[in-house]
Amino acid sequence: MTDSFSGPPLGKDPMTSTQKKTLSLQRRPRRNRKNASIRDLVAETHLSVEHLIYPVFICEGQNVAIPIKTLPGQERLSVDQLCLKLQEWKDLGLKHLALFPQIEEKLKDPYGKEALNDQGLLPRALKTLKDRYPDINLITDVALDPYSSDGHDGVVKNGKILNDVSVEILAQMALKQASWGADWVAPSDMMDGRVRAIRQTLDANGFTDTSILAYTAKYASSFYGPFREALNSAPKAGDKKTYQMDPRNSREALLELRLDFQEGADMVMVKPGLPYLDIISQIKKVSPIPVAAYNVSGEYAMIKFAAAAGALDENQAILETLTAFRRAGSDAILTYFAPQAAKLLRK
Ligand code: PBG
Repeated sequence: MTDSFSGPPLGKDPMTSTQKKTLSLQRRPRRNRKNASIRDLVAETHLSVEHLIYPVFICEGQNVAIPIKTLPGQERLSVDQLCLKLQEWKDLGLKHLALFPQIEEKLKDPYGKEALNDQGLLPRALKTLKDRYPDINLITDVALDPYSSDGHDGVVKNGKILNDVSVEILAQMALKQASWGADWVAPSDMMDGRVRAIRQTLDANGFTDTSILAYTAKYASSFYGPFREALNSAPKAGDKKTYQMDPRNSREALLELRLDFQEGADMVMVKPGLPYLDIISQIKKVSPIPVAAYNVSGEYAMIKFAAAAGALDENQAILETLTAFRRAGSDAILTYFAPQAAKLLRK
């Protein structure tokens, strides 16, 4: 079928001549876009507040809310402030929080021992939140970086990140978090075998109901910058390329999926999100378990700073971005936009 339309003859008013011309087209896809109710009827993808997990930063003190420079609109909150805000977020329909504690520098050491302290910031936050909001799902991160004086996710010896030693500590860390009330533990460390070790340790101690959200395809990415500012957790030396994945690879993500599934993960995650929508889509096609995506700090910052500069409409960009995550195959989305998106979705 050829549709030749070479434009109006020279010298004629283009409107009058195009009005006269009716193309003979069997297919006119625009008919399914002609008004909002038809577009809603045929929409393939749906985004709602149920899909959102809100990552929040917590810090010591009372009545503290410290803005994070590179994450406009996000703050480090003391536990009392977090409790107050949580009422608001809950009213918006949010049901899942991922907690990230900012650990004081003096408490950091090479083994991240503070991660196991029953009197630490994270256990205090978990207990307070669970008391006040028993039906909010609390997700805790399993990795050493916020606690480590080296700023790495595992233990560093002679410039190397040790796998098996780290896994042992991470499994203890997950067990502690479960005992403090975490509903989900989320290993973000990318050590080999950590999901198996965590599942075995949890089960051996009676925490068979604690779920594992595995950071399965977590890439060595430049998009974590604002997060590392928030927690002051950047590596002191080197980078994370010997454990986080190489952005050039996708088949490796399927290997990680197979392992995390076999080792007992309940949900898998792709991170970052936007530059890795292809990975989300590939994983979703074959994953027997739900797939989450992390719309990370750098992705949030891009939209916030672009909108502040007048380059785009912030609210539309947020909803378009989150919808793209769903279209690619994400069941759940971790995003700093969660409360703002929840408000937009209510309208
Ligand atoms: C810790 C961790 C990181 C993020 C989540 N958990 C940082 C890192 O791996 O360096 C990044 C999240 C974000 O950028 O929003 N392992």
